[in-house]
Amino acid sequence: MKVQLQHNGRKISYNIAGSGKTIVLLHGFLESQKIWEPFAAQLCKSFKVITIDLPGHGDTEVFGETHSMEFMAAMVKSILDTQNIEKAILVGHSMGGYVSFAFAKQFPERVHGLVIFHSHAAADTEEAKMNRSRTIQVVEDNRIGFIKNFIPDLFAPENTESLKDQIELLKAQAEQTPKAGIIAALKGMKERSDNTALLDEIKSPVLFIIGKKDKRISISQVMEQATAPTHCEVLLLDGVGHMGYLEAPRLTLTTIADFCRKI
Ligand code: MLT
Repeated sequence: MKVQLQHNGRKISYNIAGSGKTIVLLHGFLESQKIWEPFAAQLCKSFKVITIDLPGHGDTEVFGETHSMEFMAAMVKSILDTQNIEKAILVGHSMGGYVSFAFAKQFPERVHGLVIFHSHAAADTEEAKMNRSRTIQVVEDNRIGFIKNFIPDLFAPENTESLKDQIELLKAQAEQTPKAGIIAALKGMKERSDNTALLDEIKSPVLFIIGKKDKRISISQVMEQATAPTHCEVLLLDGVGHMGYLEAPRLTLTTIADFCRKI
């Protein structure tokens, strides 16, 4: 069921289906809740599944010049409040993972578990911050050109031919993201805090999903973070870049479902 509600005077959009333990699926930069449709269709047979269009993406409006990870996390909380859901397992792809950490920091008692899907807990390095500023300029100048180059680069090179239809679909969906939404997300990611200390304290189980060919995430950094939580599991994927939900859909779905079932 698609739900739209007002949050701080603007429209937010999410889908809810199924019953049982709650799983919240959070998409990444330039994506929308649509990416989770195949996962949600399976998971909702055993769980309550919520997929959310994060601010400035999909059918959720732009709220300001910067969408901080804390702001996005507060929006997730307000959806859980509206649905009277006390605790959820958050599954965050990339930027969605940053939002999951921001949520866990602000509302630890609402977290049942975390699935950090091609993401990590650290802040941007100085070099990454400079790259973000350059990217903002590129998007200002040529939003469509940026999207055209950005999306294929998320995949392991060996997967781009077999997944060319999905890549075209992702590009078309990304093109629906307004310039203001793209820039607000880039600014939010650039300014995000370092949440690595949270991993030493977190009481809830964590699953990291890592693609060995992911150019956007440092594998060694994530592997180090994965040693911190009391209960941590890792799925390390061969021949996969930043898009495991498309590059290894069956394995990532069953691993997430098994993790959610047992915790
Ligand atoms: C994402 O896929 O959400 C972004 O690439 C994450 C990032 O740029 O740090």
